[in-house]
Amino acid sequence: MAKTRILALETSCDDTSVAIVNSDCLVEICCSAHQDLAHAPFGGIVPEVASRQHTEAILPLIETAMTRAQVEWSEISVLAVTSRPGLVGALMVGIVTAKTLALMQDKPLVAVNHIEGHLLAPLLKQNPDDPEFKFPYTALVISGGHTHLFLVKGVGQYQLIGQTVDDAAGEAFDKFAKMLGLGFPGGVQVDRLARGGNPTRFKFPRGMIHEDNFNFSFSGLKTAAQRILQEMNEGERTAAQADLCASFQEAIVEVLLSKLNRAVEKHGLKRVTLTGGVSANSRLREQAGRLAKQKGWELKIPAPQFCTDNAAMIGVAGLLRFNQGERASQDLGPSPAALPGDYL
Ligand code: KG4
Ligand code: ZN
Repeated sequence: MAKTRILALETSCDDTSVAIVNSDCLVEICCSAHQDLAHAPFGGIVPEVASRQHTEAILPLIETAMTRAQVEWSEISVLAVTSRPGLVGALMVGIVTAKTLALMQDKPLVAVNHIEGHLLAPLLKQNPDDPEFKFPYTALVISGGHTHLFLVKGVGQYQLIGQTVDDAAGEAFDKFAKMLGLGFPGGVQVDRLARGGNPTRFKFPRGMIHEDNFNFSFSGLKTAAQRILQEMNEGERTAAQADLCASFQEAIVEVLLSKLNRAVEKHGLKRVTLTGGVSANSRLREQAGRLAKQKGWELKIPAPQFCTDNAAMIGVAGLLRFNQGERASQDLGPSPAALPGDYL
């Protein structure tokens, strides 16, 4: 039997991404156009700039993906698109493109929740012989907009057990980077500078770490960073940059892993994943690996390009939803937030 092939589009934030994924969850191609340069002068994502960039990039990117994968329209069985949560104008570009292509090519369409994409990213394969990652598992989604802990029980069965009460982990990284003048987005820069730094030199708070729940708080970090930086002159700041980054990063890593560990201990799901942009962080990956070994977890962190926003994860989610019989209609629209029923 011919394999089901899904063409997936992701435009929820500041990455335009197109992927083709087959019924074995194997990524045949994933092409992305990043918008960092367009947003950098503003020090953050400007929604209108994002929409315009998606509009310019999406069709050429689809053509590139299909050409590189040597896939014809006749070999695509279904389309998937991120419909929520995200920037409405940005989502709209992907949705209108996907609906038009579905109509033109007479293909079914599946609408995907972006967070569901991150949650199912550990299921995707880059090589046919990659080991299977199976339900159920504990998942920590850490990105620029989310810090959410889930128990993933199956397709569409996502129990949200905790989340940030203020800033997201990625947002904290980005704000700190901005304070240090490292540019936008800052997470990667902090990660890079921290590699040569001392993680114990500066004391940053570990918000809510001792609270017996699965929630997070990162806003105290921002205030602490402001205070520490105010007490230093520019020369001292520059000299201490690596130690500042390492200490700040360590606080985030410790809190994330402590809550994750608490969730695994309480709910007993020792298959564990970290996903979302912040899970590309090298210190987090290293410390999560250490903890997994110590606790006997089966840990799968997607490759960094599938941790940050990408269409391959939307393809996997769309494919599994399609197999369950789900179809979107031509009146599909964007939503800035998750929909009732998205999470248990
Ligand atoms: O999942 P993602 O690509 O987009 C959202 O859905 O938000 O996550 C982007 C976030 C940004 O805040 C970025 O600074 C952060 O992920 N990030 C990192 C690293 N790479 C990306 N944070 C820390 N270390 C990294 N290596
Ligand atoms: Zn994301």
